[in-house]
Amino acid sequence: MRKQLTIGLFGFGCVGTGLYEVLNQSNLLDAKIKRIIVKDRTKKRIIGAEHFGYEASEILNDEEINLVVELINDSNEALAIVREALSKGKHVVSANKKLIAEHLDELLNLAKENNVSFLYEASVAGSIPIIRNLEEYYNNDSLSSVQGIVNGTTNYILTQANYGVSYADALQKAQELGFAEADPTLDVDGFDSKFKLVLLIKHAFGLTVQPENVFNYGIRQIKPQDVKYASEKDYRIKLFARAEKIGNKIVGFVAPHFIKKDHVAYQVDNEFNAVIVEASFSDRQLFLGKGAGSFPTASAVLSDVSALQYDYQYEYKKSNTETKPVYAEDFYLKIYLASKDIQALNEIPFYFLDEKFQSSGYNYQTGWVKFSDLSKFDFNNIEKLFFAVLPESFKDEEEFLKFKAENEVLVNEIA
Ligand SMILES: NC(=O)c1ccc[n+]([C@@H]2O[C@H](COP(=O)([O-])OP(=O)(O)OC[C@H]3O[C@@H](n4cnc5c(N)ncnc54)[C@H](OP(=O)(O)O)[C@@H]3O)[C@@H](O)[C@H]2O)c1
Repeated sequence: MRKQLTIGLFGFGCVGTGLYEVLNQSNLLDAKIKRIIVKDRTKKRIIGAEHFGYEASEILNDEEINLVVELINDSNEALAIVREALSKGKHVVSANKKLIAEHLDELLNLAKENNVSFLYEASVAGSIPIIRNLEEYYNNDSLSSVQGIVNGTTNYILTQANYGVSYADALQKAQELGFAEADPTLDVDGFDSKFKLVLLIKHAFGLTVQPENVFNYGIRQIKPQDVKYASEKDYRIKLFARAEKIGNKIVGFVAPHFIKKDHVAYQVDNEFNAVIVEASFSDRQLFLGKGAGSFPTASAVLSDVSALQYDYQYEYKKSNTETKPVYAEDFYLKIYLASKDIQALNEIPFYFLDEKFQSSGYNYQTGWVKFSDLSKFDFNNIEKLFFAVLPESFKDEEEFLKFKAENEVLVNEIA
């Protein structure tokens, strides 16, 4: 039976107004917004002042409200709201990836104790229904990899960069168009992608990992020479959030990747997101859609509201398997490492060097590095270095040692 939902909405910005409008346009739902809490008393709104309040308690203490939709832009305040709403036995829908990635287990326990649902489809890749698909569609398929472009801001900047616009100009344009914040750090340094990756890892592999343990490197240090290298090789640069499973080990990281022309993500441009899932039975599948924006994001919130009418809860089936996966960093990546300062290239140990280029203005080398060596560095703040992951470049220790031994024999034979 469909449950009647009385909604208390926190936030009436980009996504909040979008939700209001899509709820009005969708007459299939038995859900109404009773109260909206916002912050700024002076702001002009698209609906009358009688809908709004400024005290969280107006929603949290209202027993008729059985669903809190949290769409504010302050994760500390949001945490307090979500905790209290769950404790008071209200279902919660949120789009705040930072809050959820940082406090997932605590919030899940609270939801369980109070026998309510906590849903957050909109927090990962906007309109793409990836969380629900990982939960439901792939629940019996063994996944080996979940990766993709999950941040529209950086994808917009990189699209411009791939067409020759400098990073600084592309960022400015993204800010003018409202795609990037005045302080773009969370997006351009890969934090936003990392929070989403933490949630993907939870639903794909059943592992809770703290965001501070996941390596994130963004796009701030890209130089025109790196874009030139990519275009000469027919690559496009994309910021990838990537989780791989090898045996019982899960690895996850965010880093710029050089993407080949025949890769499904090559043509994913501007604010579009793409998530690629690889599974034993269904093989490789691509989810493509808008990763942000008022209506696209609100559509994901709407789908959570709709699911709640049938008391839907995530079951985290992958978390309940007998063998628990472990988070690991002992794998190898093939990267491109570049710098104006030739000596700086020696700061990262290479276990197998493929190519080395030197000139008076710029230097680079490509080859295999150990991920645990890379992850020690705070690359977002090292201006003199840039690295990107090269295509088909991921091996676990066993595969890498075999590859290295075979290739060293080959090199010796040629010599
Ligand atoms: N925008 C997107 O495309 C997108 C995509 C995916 C996920 N999200 C997530 O969705 C959430 C909302 O994002 P948004 O883009 O809609 O933000 P936004 O446009 O900046 O709007 C934020 C809203 O939160 C309200 N607010 C801030 N602090 C508050 C508080 N303490 N109590 C009550 N209301 C408060 C603001 O009130 P005032 O109106 O009074 O200022 C405003 O209405 C964020 O977690 C974001 O990460 C956004």
